[in-house]
Amino acid sequence: MLKIVLDGAPSLRRPSKEVELPLSDKDKETLRKMLSHLVDSQDPDFLEKHPNVRSGVGLAAPQIGINKRMIAVYFEDDPEKHTFVSLKLANPRIVSSSFKKCYLASGEGCLSVPEKHEGRAYRHYKVTVEGIDGDTGEKLSIRAVGFGAIVLQHEIDHLDGILYYDRFDKANPLRELPGAIAI
Ligand code: CO
Repeated sequence: MLKIVLDGAPSLRRPSKEVELPLSDKDKETLRKMLSHLVDSQDPDFLEKHPNVRSGVGLAAPQIGINKRMIAVYFEDDPEKHTFVSLKLANPRIVSSSFKKCYLASGEGCLSVPEKHEGRAYRHYKVTVEGIDGDTGEKLSIRAVGFGAIVLQHEIDHLDGILYYDRFDKANPLRELPGAIAI
């Protein structure tokens, strides 16, 4: 498993650099390890043997101390069909986003933030993200809605040194935003 750096570590607050293309074998390997960390972290058998590992749906390179623009996400998008969204992206960027906002009703969490911060991080309800696929090196365009959009925005924020609680209204972290959708 990868060692996850925790809130307070400088790499979490530093803006990350663009990854040089074509992707180096080393960067591909980093992305592969990031994704497999997430996959393992959701495996009940693995967790039984490793009770200190926290489950996660997304990871950004600064969270393992590497300030390069790379993210991995892994989550089930259809519980009935058991289909998963599984992505390794270099240089991801949001190229379009909805005016409509949403937030995670249970509150966001982060593998780098051990204690839970109560509040609402409002995110775009829909985003289109472009990035370089960690396997093929090809440019990908991903349209995400709701939970997937939240995860991608959370991970891309890490590349700019932003943690989810930075998105809270400082005076009133639970402030309601009219029209925002609870996910
Ligand atoms: Co995070």
